[in-house]
Order: sequence, then C-alpha cells, then structure tokens
Amino acid sequence: MHPPARMSPGTAAGHPDAVIVGGGLAGLVTAWRAAQRGLRTTVVDPEPGGGAARVAAGMLAAVTELHYGEETLLGLNLVSAGRYPAFAAELAEAAGQDLGYRRCGTLAVALDADDRAHLRELHALQRRCGLDSEWLTGRECRKLEPMLAPGVRGGLRVDGDHQIDPRRLATALLTACERAGVAFVRERAERLTVADGRATGVELADGTPLPAGQVVLAAGSFSGLLAGVPEHVRPPVRPVKGQVLRLRIPAAYGPFLSRTVRAVVRGGPLYLVPRENGDLVVGATSEELGWDTTVTAGGVYELLRDAHELVPGITELPLTETIAGLRPGSPDNAPLLGPSALPGLLMATGHFRNGVLLTPVTGDVMAHALTTGELPEEARPFTPLRFGPTTAAAPSSAPTRAALQEQTA
Ligand code: GLY
Repeated sequence: MHPPARMSPGTAAGHPDAVIVGGGLAGLVTAWRAAQRGLRTTVVDPEPGGGAARVAAGMLAAVTELHYGEETLLGLNLVSAGRYPAFAAELAEAAGQDLGYRRCGTLAVALDADDRAHLRELHALQRRCGLDSEWLTGRECRKLEPMLAPGVRGGLRVDGDHQIDPRRLATALLTACERAGVAFVRERAERLTVADGRATGVELADGTPLPAGQVVLAAGSFSGLLAGVPEHVRPPVRPVKGQVLRLRIPAAYGPFLSRTVRAVVRGGPLYLVPRENGDLVVGATSEELGWDTTVTAGGVYELLRDAHELVPGITELPLTETIAGLRPGSPDNAPLLGPSALPGLLMATGHFRNGVLLTPVTGDVMAHALTTGELPEEARPFTPLRFGPTTAAAPSSAPTRAALQEQTA
C-alpha cells in the first residue's frame, strides 16, 4: 500500500488529479495503480477495455520475441515479465476474476533450413543477452508437441515465456479500477486543454471541459490524434495492423498444444497460443496500412496456410473469429512513458508488439511518474523526451478520431 499522493499541481477541489485519455490496457493499469496511490483518477474512453486488448494474443514473450537492436527494450520487457506473477495474483484478487494467466512456456520452431538459420541466430542473441533458451532437435520438439508437422527441423524451448488472456486482463482491470474508485467518462476526448504552458485537462467531443491536475495520453495508436497537443509534444506513434484468428479445440480432441508455439514462416512471424478454455489464437500479420482494420481474405489465408504447415491438424478445427487491430508503433519500437515536454502532460503509449507484456511495469512507472514527477530507474530510457521535438507520425491522411472510432467499433 502506498501513502496518499500529494495533490498534483493545478488540481482544484472537485477536479480529478489525473485524467487518462484511453481505456486500453495502458490507460486502465495506469488508472488502477494511480488510484491505489490515492490519486483521484478519471478515464475517458467511449469503450474502456476495448482497443488492441480485444485482438492481442497475449504472449508474454520477452525472450522468443527478442529482436536485434532492441536490447534496451528487452530490459524493460524482462522487468515486466518478472512482475507478472505478483501482478496477476493481485489483480485477480482485486477484481475477483480469473485472468487466463498460464505459465506454460513457449516453443519456437523452424520448418526449413532458412528458418533454422534464423532460429540459430536468435538463440545466439538470446545467449549473449544471458537469457534461458534451450536448442532442441526436431524430434525433441515433436516429443514436446506431438501435433507439430513431422518436418520440423529444430526449435528453441523457452520455459519463461508465458501467456495471459488480454480480454480477461482488460475486463479485470476495468473491475479493479471501479473498485478502487476510478471514475469513467464513456465519451471521446476531443482536445487537450492548455493554459499558461501547462496541460489543464481535456475537452470532450460535445465540448464539455474536464479539468484535471495532470493528463495521461494512453490512447494506443490514436495517441497522436488528440487535438490541442502542441506539435513539438505530439507522440510519434503510428498504427501497425495485425490480423488474428481464433479457432476452437473441441474438448473431445484432448491436448492439442500444451504451450505457445511460434515460428518464422517465409520470413513472417507466426504464433499459435492455446488457451485453457479451448480457444486457439493464431497470429499475426504486421501491415503498415494506416488506419485500415479490414480482415482480408489474403491475411486469413496466409495465417491458415502457415499455421497448417506448422500444425497440420489445425484445418480440422472450427474457425470462430477473425479480427484485426492496430499496434501503436513508435520509431524505436519501444514505449513512451512518463512526463512529456509539456508540463502536466504524460504519455503511456507506443507499446507496439509488447502492450500486454508491459502492462505491469507500465502501471508502476506511470503511477510513480504521476505522484513524483520522475521516472523510476527502469523506465528512464523510455522517456518521451528521447525523440526531441516531434512531428506527427500518424499517416497524413489520418481521419478524424470520430470516424475512426465508428470504423473500429
Ligand atoms: N506480440 C505479438 C504481435 O505483436 O503480433
């Protein structure tokens, strides 16, 4: 338990200390942690608990999703992965809900010689970074996961990369927020209000002002679109589309996959995430197509084609859902956390591929920043100030937020 926070500068009696623009995972966890520290907190979002959390597969893949050049981000990913067990237990207790958190590990496999070379490189990088990852032969992979294709050429067993159900996570955060006293304004924030060089709150779409001591911009890929944010402060986030499928493993099938299975097929990452409730999530495309969230025949075809090469039995399963969402990409693929160059305005956005994984650390970092004005040590590399004065990264043809929200509802 934290001592009550000091009142934020500029907070008047009756106004929230913090207004959070965006009720996705980043916004909700920020609100929950801030409220636990005694801040009067309001979340503004027409549909809190929606957004990318409705689409994401929920892999907590700090090790298997490591990329060259992202070693700094790895540090934050590992901190968050390390906090997950305690975070999940606390949240499940606070919300009285199961989060679908499975400590099941991950197997990354190779289907051909090129894939195997890629995986060998990843393994070498993981070892250089001091990560736990074990090389397995194809036979060993199939012993672990008998549904894998006979042609699997080898793989990496990573017992520390787990999964959570992001939909349950979002629902639980919503409940935990409500129980902690967070207020929800189920409207769209249209504009940041600024006075005397300081963020003073937001204005809703109908013109209603919502003054607050501090404002947190946590609107995912939409974060660059809030009107009123001075150009030099606007976060450089862009939408990166991901298409995802859900299939159902009938109870009669018995065990299908016991852990997350991933591969790089024809250069594209593919993952199959088996949930305890019998769902199998297959993802994901990665498409730089602006604000488009259409599920395409090509996207579904490629995911099923590649998943079938990896696990041939998949074509027997009922296909229950196709969906597309937008990852908030940033110039260095890492999040923007903490105070911006405009006093009173903070960011919690740009989580790109790691929004679910980074949820625990995002909440802690943002609550710390809201109550002290500082970033904790582990988050200093992720200050929004690292990009200097920015110009909007959203595609120039960006539609209005109102149009977008209709499109993605
Ligand atoms: N982290 C998985 C994805 O972004 O598709």
